[in-house]
Amino acid sequence: MLSKPARLGLFATLSLLASLPAQAEVDGQQLYRQHCVKCHAADGRANTLRGWLYFAQNLSKAKWQDNTSDREILEAIQDGPRAMPSFADTLNEAEQLALVRAVRDLRKP
Ligand code: HEC
Repeated sequence: MLSKPARLGLFATLSLLASLPAQAEVDGQQLYRQHCVKCHAADGRANTLRGWLYFAQNLSKAKWQDNTSDREILEAIQDGPRAMPSFADTLNEAEQLALVRAVRDLRKP
């Protein structure tokens, strides 16, 4: 039987190991905060000054989520419809795909 500090140490090591592969992946939430929040807002509702000025899409809307494919979201990220900038040259494919998942996570019931 391990002492309590030893068990805590073991637990810390295990959770560190478990978190390593996740860190190697691209963090879509972080990219969304960095590039998208200023127009689409943290919750995707685009209730920001810029979102309002540019008529940015409400990304949290269930109906919009249902009617939009992953490919369409990816194309929006790559092409930048209307006032939205294109991210085709600034973000690599893994980052663009991580953002598609981040957009999916914004869905509200
Ligand atoms: C400068 C403001 C701005 C920024 C920054 C921005 N967008 Fe947009 N986005 C818009 C506007 C405006 C539209 C609406 C265009 C339209 O009506 O088709 C839009 C539309 C979209 C759409 C929906 C397209 C559709 O088919 O309905 C998606 C998905 C999207 N943005 C995702 C993102 C993601 C992800 C980021 C960050 C990488 C981002 N946007 C950054 C302004 C912005």
